[in-house]
Amino acid sequence: MAKHPFVSDRDAFEALGERTVRMLGAYLRDLPKEPVDRVVPQAVRQTLISLPLPEHGQSPEEILDFLQREVMPWPIATGHKRSYGWVNSGPAPIALLADAVASTMDCGLDGYDHSAIFLMKSLGRWIMELVGFPTEGSLCILLSGGSSATLNALTTARHRAAAQDGWNMRAEGLQSGRKKLILYSSAEGHSSIQKCAEQLGIGTANLRAIEADAAFRMQPAALRAAIEGDLKAGHLPFAIVACGGATNTGAIDPLDEIADIAQEFGIWLHVDGAFGAWAALDPAYRAQFRAFARVDSITLNPHKWLQVPIDCGALLTRHPEAHRAAYSLTPDYLEAGHSEAPWPYEHMFQLTYGNRALKVWAAIARLGRAGVAELVTRCNALATLLERRVREAPDLELLSPASLSVVNFRYRPGGVSEAALDTLNEKISESISASGAAHIPTTRIHDKTSLRVCFLHYENDESDVEHLIGLVRRIGAELAGQS
Ligand SMILES: Cc1ncc(COP(=O)(O)O)c(C=O)c1O
Repeated sequence: MAKHPFVSDRDAFEALGERTVRMLGAYLRDLPKEPVDRVVPQAVRQTLISLPLPEHGQSPEEILDFLQREVMPWPIATGHKRSYGWVNSGPAPIALLADAVASTMDCGLDGYDHSAIFLMKSLGRWIMELVGFPTEGSLCILLSGGSSATLNALTTARHRAAAQDGWNMRAEGLQSGRKKLILYSSAEGHSSIQKCAEQLGIGTANLRAIEADAAFRMQPAALRAAIEGDLKAGHLPFAIVACGGATNTGAIDPLDEIADIAQEFGIWLHVDGAFGAWAALDPAYRAQFRAFARVDSITLNPHKWLQVPIDCGALLTRHPEAHRAAYSLTPDYLEAGHSEAPWPYEHMFQLTYGNRALKVWAAIARLGRAGVAELVTRCNALATLLERRVREAPDLELLSPASLSVVNFRYRPGGVSEAALDTLNEKISESISASGAAHIPTTRIHDKTSLRVCFLHYENDESDVEHLIGLVRRIGAELAGQS
């Protein structure tokens, strides 16, 4: 009998792997020389969306050829060091390799007695130590991203608040006509918080978007007033989500003051540090994250600043037992398998889930505490340098100062109306993308179209700041001259 194709591939694995690794090595080395943004050509789109289902299997060589020819030339820009837009970075090479080890071993992180379950214990402690979260009695869960980490925390907070009010959320659900559950976040909070409110059945009507100050930070007095108002109305405030680095501006909410309020009213405080929490390692920002020592939970994404390949969002929590109470459900067929080893799935929605631990562990192991600190500190310093360059340039206007590694500004030559400036800056962003020289998307700041720059890549340095400033001014002048 002919060998099963997967048996043949297993037997030829080293040779296939060597070819694949050469292909990937060339990809990583060539990426910095390639255009940052690439548009998938029409013919390729057509090919990719209309592939016929093969009746018979293809050879591994044909499959690798296809990937090399039709897929690898058309990535999203985020892996390129001059992609300054979305809060995703290029993957650390060692994390890619560790991820291949995880895929090869194919052991889920949900539980059972295997090595990664125990490695996860050290990794969780490492992440907590890096950002100053208490390690004793805490738990780290690696989920698919920031949205799912925050959803996990808020589901648990909802369950706990309801239980404290004599309400068994798991049995009764939301339809028993009890109190209104109220969630608080900054008006500058990430869209994922609204999605959590919708997903949890809280409803956006019961998500209080607390006013931010001129520096885009939640106003504690407004938070307090909202909570007091809700309590007076007989509602049940169940969680506050504070911002540990806003995506748009890098703004960090006043975490200490918010933690005081959360403590006073006994409300779960979650910090969305998906992007920014790693900056607790930067001496310039450390004090702003001091409250990590007393918050209930934090979201922070290894697939952002830590350069871990997508996907991975970490949840740090002080209350593993509260998560267990909100989630644990062990089917009979798993009871017998329960051993002394921890079973992380009891703290979350998924049962089987991927081993994200190895890639995160490898990235941190490769850099050490000093290396992660150097990375975030350098990126933040580049944002500060960019802010200075913008302030010095007569044709640039700062729209939000450097906070963490984000800066917002626009090209602003004299004599151009507000509406025309919006259009001009949109065009600058588009032209830069089309040129392939960088990716600088636009956002809205104080109702103005802004060029938003975020440094995250391990290879970014001062020459990128100078290149970026020169690019915006040159393309801006060309476009302004045409209009
Ligand atoms: C501050 C912040 N919170 C939450 C998220 C959502 O994270 P994810 O995209 O991993 O679900 C993001 C992502 O861009 C973010 O920047």
